[in-house]
Amino acid sequence: LQNGLALTPPMGWLHWERFLCETNCERNPKNCISEQLFMDMADKMVSEGWLDAGYQYLCIDDCWLAPERDEKNRLQADPVRFPGGIKKLADYVHSRGLLLGIYEDVGSKTCEGFPGSQGYYDIDAQTFAEWGVDLLKFDGCYYGTLDKLEDGYRQMSMALNRTGRKIVLSCEWPLYERGIKKINYSEVAEYCNSWRNFGDITDSWGSVKAVMDLSSAVQEEIVPVAGPGSWNDPDMLVIGNFGLSWNQQVTQMALWSIMAAPLMMSNDLRDIPAESKALLQDKNVISINQDPLGAQGYRVFKADYFEVWERPLIKGSLAVAVTNRNEIGGPRNFLLSLSLLWEDRVCQNSCFITQLLPSFQKYGHLNDTSLLSLWINPSGTILLRID
Ligand code: GLA
Repeated sequence: LQNGLALTPPMGWLHWERFLCETNCERNPKNCISEQLFMDMADKMVSEGWLDAGYQYLCIDDCWLAPERDEKNRLQADPVRFPGGIKKLADYVHSRGLLLGIYEDVGSKTCEGFPGSQGYYDIDAQTFAEWGVDLLKFDGCYYGTLDKLEDGYRQMSMALNRTGRKIVLSCEWPLYERGIKKINYSEVAEYCNSWRNFGDITDSWGSVKAVMDLSSAVQEEIVPVAGPGSWNDPDMLVIGNFGLSWNQQVTQMALWSIMAAPLMMSNDLRDIPAESKALLQDKNVISINQDPLGAQGYRVFKADYFEVWERPLIKGSLAVAVTNRNEIGGPRNFLLSLSLLWEDRVCQNSCFITQLLPSFQKYGHLNDTSLLSLWINPSGTILLRID
């Protein structure tokens, strides 16, 4: 969507994967979906260096709503869990230099059964703009028919535009059409700043692998439409939670950077392991993700349980990820032939190679006759930058 926003993939925090739909604040006061949770995260985003690293959008997912609209058909936040209302929360978030994201649904209900936007696109866009919302995650549950789904996404996109407020629109349009009809990606990209293609990520290596496999399987379809203002969204970063080993966390961070993915963390910033924090805040890796050319990377090679992915970067540079998909044994050796990268465009005369993950290391000047010997841990990834 060419609304001047999301010229690089949006970065921030989104509550869903870690906090789901916990609405019982008596039982779980620190982790229920409430204004306190978002104020806590806002404070951490500023005090712990997240905002400085680029994570600016603090995003609410499902389950923030009251069960009914008000007497003027406007949405309202749950009065017990958000006693100050969303506007006050937005003011709090803005006063800290952050931006606020919110969640709604194109259909009659949200996925968790709260009031949906169908039939109320203009009122809801207006309400979000008045509250000072900066990003809308727009889900697709209970859409009715595919015509209504598509029409609803178009209508909400135009309604947000008419408010005059700069609001990023994050869609799930293709996810609900996949397998049912041929997705018109150029139209999706015309109305949305980002869009989910596949089902929900979970806190597991199986889920991260599935995203890699699904994305590469349809890369011819989804890679060309990505660019400044329009991004494929492989869903949240689950780094810093319970399910991924260190090597698997490295793989998620490396691949999400190669894929030009929105970097929306879903974790508990009040309690996150130091190594996960350092990985998520790694400036060199983030600069691959945020590369201004905005070209999405793709898989170039797969054999013998290795995968090589590459992403063209600004000024003829290249990012390369090599993943060891073997899940038995120790580190395995991969000989990377530099002439195979990017149709031999990057190292023809000489190139400078830096390893960014799992640790920073300079390999120095090489050329396209060189073979780079890499040792990669099971389910781990080596991320390189080639200039
Ligand atoms: C869908 C979305 C998730 C999350 C939930 C909330 O499953 O794909 O990302 O927003 O709804 O109910």
